[in-house]
This record gives sequence, structure tokens and C-alpha cells, in this order.
Amino acid sequence: MDDVDDIKKYVGKKTKLIKNKKLFLDDYSPKTIINRSRERDKLGECLADVLDKQYPCPTSMAIYGSSGTGKSLLVSFLLDVLQQNAKEMYPDRKLKIIRIKASEVQTRYRVINRIYKGLYGDVKGPHDYSEIHDAIIKYLQTHSGQLYVFLDEIHEFDEKKELNHVIYTVSRLSEDVGYTPKPTNLSNNKTCMSVGFITISNNAMIESKLKDNTKSTYQKAERIFFNKYNSKDIFEILQERINEGVLMPDVFEKDGVGLEGGLKLIASLSAENEFDARFALHLLHQSAKLSEKKGKSCIGEDEIKEANTYLKENMLKSILEECNEIQLEILDVVYKISKKKNPEEHITSKNIFDEMNIDHPEFYVNHPALGRISKIFSRFFFKNDIFYSYNISGRRGQSRGIGTDETIKVVEEFLSERDKMLR
Ligand SMILES: Nc1ncnc2c1ncn2[C@@H]1O[C@H](COP(=O)(O)OP(=O)(O)OP(=O)(O)O)[C@@H](O)[C@H]1O
Ligand SMILES: [Mg+2]
Repeated sequence: MDDVDDIKKYVGKKTKLIKNKKLFLDDYSPKTIINRSRERDKLGECLADVLDKQYPCPTSMAIYGSSGTGKSLLVSFLLDVLQQNAKEMYPDRKLKIIRIKASEVQTRYRVINRIYKGLYGDVKGPHDYSEIHDAIIKYLQTHSGQLYVFLDEIHEFDEKKELNHVIYTVSRLSEDVGYTPKPTNLSNNKTCMSVGFITISNNAMIESKLKDNTKSTYQKAERIFFNKYNSKDIFEILQERINEGVLMPDVFEKDGVGLEGGLKLIASLSAENEFDARFALHLLHQSAKLSEKKGKSCIGEDEIKEANTYLKENMLKSILEECNEIQLEILDVVYKISKKKNPEEHITSKNIFDEMNIDHPEFYVNHPALGRISKIFSRFFFKNDIFYSYNISGRRGQSRGIGTDETIKVVEEFLSERDKMLR
């Protein structure tokens, strides 16, 4: 063997198209946030209540919008700006912002602990849930200033076990503290902390899962909806990331499709994923990785299309891995029914359970397996149309149906993916 100890000679040998992969990370904050001025203004107006001279008060907000519409990005960015503005305008006031992601904490116990730590710092505290809660209230009653609890991804909380409790606890903090607005400019004015919350969810139906007493406080929050992007927005988001230097210069040029052609293709492919900006960025990343792997010095149309197929298959795979037996059975049944129906007809949940010989009417209503399957389909349908749902009496519910043609296509993809997994 010769030269095995000489690594230097390999430097620069590998094709490198990605210049700075940090810019692809989900929590990277880009220098420019594209086309969110309506949402930014609405959020800004609410957040500005904290900067009120006499009566600073964190206005609570419930934010909704599909996946990848920039909710987490814009809210975290504006909270940073708010913190900065508050410090400059009122150096003596205390503004605390506690940021919690449901996917990281999952239980109400961990949520309450994070709030405790956010207030008291990393000190040893009580273990019992209600003692921790009492300590939080005590802190808020004996300090002045403002507190925002920012709960991102609340759709990730278990709807049956945790969601209602978490929202109840967080949305009631302000009432539990017994805050009443008093002017802050009076010297020696001992007021308690005023509390607001910000929740984000990609499912606007989540409120229907809350119990009535939780709903009544939660619904007082301002509602802000993030619109879906279109292909022009996605194009600009990708272009901005390129301008910031995520890829080596000119990787779309040379023998590639050209920058404009490449980004347009990615933007149009992201239509299948409801113009989810996260998906579009993943597609750009994956296309670059694939081209690197092939040793190409540019990204071409083929690589973008291959990357799209790869991402789609992986998505199918990860969803299928989460499915339980009954959900997989439903997929088979949907396929059977699709074949029998004419393309204009819709598939209903009643059809599905009839085919499975399940005849308890209450089974039709909100069956978790059906809900899960509906979610699977909704991820693959731009129009977000799912099955007709039936209520107990068998009348049509509110949700719309999908035509059989489309159903066959999606289910076929799932089944072939599942066969691959079983092989
Ligand atoms: N307007 C924008 N300008 C630049 N980048 C954006 C914009 N919107 C989204 N992105 C990028 O797209 C990705 C997804 O955005 P974000 O995480 O904010 O989505 P989200 O609405 O919170 O989605 P989810 O509901 O799945 O949590 C991030 O990498 C973010 O930086
Ligand atoms: Mg998010």
C-alpha cells in the first residue's frame, strides 16, 4: 500500500455542491423572511401591546396555518425583535419569554417544569405537579413585568391525555395570578406579572378537541392564520437561501437547468406538498446531495426529479411505519372499493366499514383509525379533501370527499410501498 497516510491529497477531490449546510437546517433563521407582510403586521400589532407605556400587556394569540408556512420562523423572529425593543425602550422592565416545543416536551408535567425553570432558573424545585404550579403562581404574583409562554406545535400533544390540560393550565395562568392592569409609571408600584400565551398549530380543528372550560379562556386569544404559499413565494424563498450562500456558486448553470429553471421546477413540485417551504428546501438539499453523490458539478432536472421521488417514497415509508394493523387493513379496503366505484363517486367511511363488516353505527364516528387514514390522505392531496364522514344517523358530515380516481392513485402508491417494505 502506498501513500495511505497522506490524506492531504484527497482534499478538494470530492465533488462539493453544498457550501453551507447550516442554512438548510430547520431552525436556521434566514436574513430575509419572504412575503409574510400580512402575517407580520398582524403579529406585530398584537406584540406591540407589550411595549405600551402605561399598560404593557402580552396579548394572547392562537396561530394557525399549514405545515411549512413559516409560522415558527416568523413568531420566533418577532419575539427576538420584541425582546430587543423592550430592552431598549424600558431597560427597567422585565419581559420573560418562555419557548416550548410540544415535540420536545410532550407531557403537561414537562411543560409546567419548563415554565418553572424559565422563571426560577435551573434550580431544584418541587416535584409534585400542583406544587410546581403553585410556585409558578407565587413567582408571578410577587414579581412585576410581563411573561409570554410560547407553545409551538400544540397539535403534537396527545389529544386525549395532554392537550386539554396543557392549554387549560397555560391559558389560565393570567387569571390564576389575578392580574389587574395598573399604570406602570407610578413609582413603587407593586404589580404582579401579566401573562400572555402564544400557541401555534398546523391544525385549526384542534380547538374542537378542548373541553368547554378550556375553550372559554382559549378562545379569548387573537386568532392569526397563515396563508399557504404559492409557487412564486417558494421560488423566492429558495432564491433567498441561494443568495445567502447555501450552495456553491453557479451549480445550476454549467450543464444544469439554469438557476431559474431549477428553482421553478422545485417550486412546481412542491405544489404536491401544499407549497410547504420546508419540503421545497429539503428538495433543493436532496437534489444537491444526489448530484454530489453522482460526482456531478451541477444540479440537473434529472436529479431534482429523482430527489422528489426519493423524498416522496421516504414520506410514504415513514407514514406506513406508524400505521397499526387496522389502519393498514383500511388501506386495503379503500383500494378494493376504489376499484369497484366509478371515478365520480366518493368513498365514504360507511363504505369502508361496510366492507369490513363492522356494523356498529357509533364506530363510524371519529374512529381514530379512520382519522389517521384521513390524515395520510390529506398529506397527499393538495385540495385537502378527505372522505365523507358520516354521523351516527348515517347523514353526511361536513368534510368533503375524494374522487375515486385520485384515491386509486394514492392507495396504489401506499400499497406498493408497503409491499416493498414487506419484501
Ligand atoms: N417566508 C419565508 N422566508 C424564508 N424562509 C422561510 C419562509 N417561510 C418558511 N421558511 C423556511 O421553511 C422552513 C419551514 O418553516 P417553519 O418551520 O417556520 O414552518 P411552520 O409553519 O412552523 O411549519 P410546521 O407547522 O410544520 O411547524 C424553515 O426552514 C423556514 O426557515
Ligand atoms: Mg413550526
